[in-house]
Parts: sequence; structure tokens; C-alpha cells
Amino acid sequence: MFYTIVGTQWGDEGKGKIVDWISSKADLIVRYQGGNNAGHTIKVDNNVYKLNLLPSGIINNKKCAIGNGVVLDPWALINEINNLKEQGIEVNEDNLYIADNICLILPIHKLLDEINEITRGKKELGTTKKGIGPAYEDKVGRRAIRICDLKDPTFLKQKIDNLYEFHKDKISKHIHKITHNYYEELLSMSNYLNSFSVPLWKIINELGQKNKNIVFEGAQGSMLDIDFGTYPYVTSSNTISGQIFSGTGFSYRNDHKVLGITKAYTTRVGSGPFPTELMDEIGEHLGEKGQEFGTVTKRKRRCGWFDSVLLKQSIKLNGITDIVLTKLDVLDELKEINVCTGYLIDNKHYDYLPSEEFLFDKIKPIYKKVAGWEKSTAGVYKFDALPENAKKYIKILEDLMETNISIVSTGPDRKETIDINGTLSNI
Ligand code: GDP
Ligand code: IMO
Ligand code: MG
Repeated sequence: MFYTIVGTQWGDEGKGKIVDWISSKADLIVRYQGGNNAGHTIKVDNNVYKLNLLPSGIINNKKCAIGNGVVLDPWALINEINNLKEQGIEVNEDNLYIADNICLILPIHKLLDEINEITRGKKELGTTKKGIGPAYEDKVGRRAIRICDLKDPTFLKQKIDNLYEFHKDKISKHIHKITHNYYEELLSMSNYLNSFSVPLWKIINELGQKNKNIVFEGAQGSMLDIDFGTYPYVTSSNTISGQIFSGTGFSYRNDHKVLGITKAYTTRVGSGPFPTELMDEIGEHLGEKGQEFGTVTKRKRRCGWFDSVLLKQSIKLNGITDIVLTKLDVLDELKEINVCTGYLIDNKHYDYLPSEEFLFDKIKPIYKKVAGWEKSTAGVYKFDALPENAKKYIKILEDLMETNISIVSTGPDRKETIDINGTLSNI
């Protein structure tokens, strides 16, 4: 059986928690896009783990893989592996594969990310400055350094010289003259990095053929997808479920569940439209109660009401079979909750988020008011134990989304999960 875990909103929906939870039954957990712009937090008893590049299954000591759709910063990877080691988690070639055709993020990409943001001025995107966009640009521009290139010193030298030559004017215009292209450092990492590298497309299809349990771990959210998100306020990869195929080489289409990880409200980090954003004390309350601070950049996340328009769009784009509703407990204190059911733009009704950037500022959400439950749901792990109004809220969301909520999360810990339909026990 194959499971894809995708974020349905603007990221930070709790994907890491759910991947960790489901990975107890998995044979392989794979990242297929993004890079260390992702920040996935996992809580197991008193331990909190923060992952950027490594798939969340690593905490369960499961076999993990980083697919070719990811852009890999070798320094960030090594740092993450060392940090996990200090927390007692070993990462080695027995539990980590890296696709041999993966493209690298180099220090120059972080400089270019900075420059791109500066030159956008007021229209800055608020990127994580991890070099994601520039690294994908070099990949598509067919200049990128791939992990397999590190095996041949002469070849690597040519490629890295070409890459730096290509960008040098832009860099020296904005920052300073580059004197150092990290060739020696990369070469010295080659053996270690290549100890993980494999033709992943081959291995993953062999596992697919044997119908092993493979979990595909999405990063970011569907509304940050380069094609279908709120362009240009998006990341530089395809984040929707279709990306699992080109981001790993996997080709089995059947026996697949797509779990859409969905916060019981909405958050966004960085710039861009957010129709249900709350600029008042309720927004502040959600941020405080939900601890909505970016894992990667520590920025405060913008908070707002649940938006069923976005959800319906995400469900279609991803082929979502089940919704996982997270952070229900964050709404516990609210007397009344709003749920967005549609948009008005220039007095015209919309049941989807339009592509036109020039309409973004005009979107007015239409709300349905729902009674809160004003009781604690924190840590509840049985559906029947939820307050009646919380159950009603779940039902209202299901009706609006026209999709079942199969799992509800009531706290950050692995155990704080309600498996309504027995998804985990049936694997
Ligand atoms: P991801 O990027 O989608 O993996 O999500 P993040 O890890 O960036 O952000 C989700 C945050 O919410 C993390 O700090 C989680 O520990 C936490 N979290 C996940 N599920 C729940 C939940 O049901 N309730 C609460 N209160 N926190 C949760
Ligand atoms: P996880 O996997 C939330 C946002 C950035 C910025 C935009 C582009 O933890 O859900 P980038 O650095 O990718 O070029 O930035 O995308 N962004 C995220 N927001 N969660 C993430 O990942 C994000 N990764 C990128 O804030 O607005
Ligand atoms: Mg996150």
C-alpha cells in the first residue's frame, strides 16, 4: 500500500507528526520535493525532534529516502545528521538512501536567494533564504551540480567553475566579489555523501512491485505549489501529490491513499494572499495557543479561520482520499468559530481561489458561524470523548469539503491522535 502525505494549506499543517505516526507500519519513507525550507516537528513523549531534510520516519528508525525532486544542501544535511546523533538518532547508509541524480544547493544559491528578495523590494516573497528557488532555477537551467558529479574531481571542477561563472556578475553587482567556490569542501564530502547515494528510482519500484508500504512525505503545502499555489507567493517546487512520481521515479498508480493534512484553522508564513487572515486578538490567540512560530526562520506565522474554498481546491489537485484534521485543540477556548464557505470578488461569487494575482487583494471571504465547544480536547484519543460541538465542527468541515476526516490530531505527541477509521490499525 502507498501513502502520500500532503499539506493542503500553506504548510506547517502537522505533516511531520502524521508521517512519524504512520511510519511505524512503513517499509520506506520518502521525501520527493522541496529542501531544507521545510521544518517538520515531531514529539515523542518528552523528546522533540526538528527535521528539515530527513524524512520524519527516521525518528522511528525506519528506512528513509530523499528523492531526486528534492534540492539537497550537503552542509544542512550533515548538520541535521549530527544534531540528531546528539538526540540519540543514528543516520547511516543502512537507514538513509539519497537519489544519485539529486541536485545540490550550494552556498551561492543562498546568496542569490538574498539578492532576489532584495531586488523585489516591496514585493518580496519572504522566502526562507535557504537557496531553494535559485537551486531549482539552476536545475531547470541544466547547470546544477548533482550528487553523482562529486565522484569525479575533474568533472566536478568544470561544472562548479561553469556555475560560478554563470552567476558571478549578478553576485558581484549586489554583494561582493566571490573568491571561493567550495570545490575542495564538496570534494572532501564526496565519499560520505555518496555512501548514501543509490539509483532510488530502481529500488523504489522494486519495493512497489512487492507492494511494500511506502510513505511519501510532502513538504510545504498545496497553496505553495509553483503551478497551483498563490503564484508568485509560492515555493519553487510542485508540492502536490502528482510530484511523487517525477520526484522519485516511482510508477505504481494503484493501492494509493492520499492523506491531506489540514489544520483546523489556517496559517501562512511569508508574504502573499490569505483571505481568512485574522488581524485581531483571535488571530493572536491562535498564534499563541498553537505556538505558531516558523521552525526554519522563527518568524511568527499569520493565523486565520478555516477556509473550505482552499480545501476543496487542494482535495481536487491532490486526489485526496482522506483528510487528517490537526490542531483541533487550538480552538478549544473559542466561543464562536468562523468557517469560510466562499469568496466575493467585485461582488462576484467564487468557489475557488482565482489564479489572477491582481485579484488577490480584492478577495472577501464569506463565513458560516459555528458554535465553539469551550472544553479541552487536548490529548483526546477517542472520537466519542470529544465534546459534542467539536464533533459538529468536524461534521460541518466534512460536509463543506465533501471528504471524510479519517484522523483527528489533538496534540503534538504521537499518541494524541484519533484514528477514526482505523487507518493505522488496518495497514
Ligand atoms: P509540518 O511542517 O506540516 O510538519 O508542521 P510543523 O511541524 O512545522 O508545525 C506543526 C506544529 O504543530 C508542530 O510544532 C507540531 O508539534 C504541532 N502539532 C502537530 N499536531 C498538533 C496538534 O494536533 N495539536 C497541537 N497543539 N500541536 C500540534
Ligand atoms: P513545511 O514543510 C511554511 C514558504 C516561505 C515563503 C515561500 C517561499 O514546514 O510545511 P522558499 O524558501 O521555499 O523559496 O519560500 O514558501 N515556505 C513555507 N511555509 N512551511 C514550509 O514548509 C515552507 N517552506 C517554504 O515562508 O513564503
Ligand atoms: Mg513546518
